[in-house]
Amino acid sequence: MSERTFSIIKPDAVERNLQGAIIKMIQDSGLKIVGMKMIHMSRKQAEGFYAVHKERPFFGSLCDYMCSGPVVVSVLEGENAISRYRTLMGATNPENADEGTIRKCFAVDIEKNSVHGSDAPETAAIEIPYFFSNLELVG
Ligand code: CMP
Repeated sequence: MSERTFSIIKPDAVERNLQGAIIKMIQDSGLKIVGMKMIHMSRKQAEGFYAVHKERPFFGSLCDYMCSGPVVVSVLEGENAISRYRTLMGATNPENADEGTIRKCFAVDIEKNSVHGSDAPETAAIEIPYFFSNLELVG
């Protein structure tokens, strides 16, 4: 079944001009981009986006990092897009990421791990409208 997932190319990757390389990996995997924009998140937006992690010890640092510079947010579509994109990203901690994954290629560490992707349909259903209106999604 075709589904949509939400992606962020995070500040560490945009800062190193890696957005083109990461978008190429996404497109080469067969996922279709149905929405994309560059934004600079406010601290409040980052806190709201990661609210599920607010009790975790890394929450403050994560929010500081996510609003430290521009990011590229996008919506990807395809058969099993959520699990396919998570496979393409690799493990959260790049030390555990498989060869050929985005995080293995580009992530700096467990926080500055270059990309985010929704982990379940319920999460995608919250994350996509957090940053995109229906008018910004095509295809
Ligand atoms: P992401 O997939 O966006 O989901 C939560 C983010 O928190 C994660 O990627 C990392 O950027 C960050 N993070 C920092 N430390 C940890 C940790 N110990 N475990 C999980 N995520 C972490």
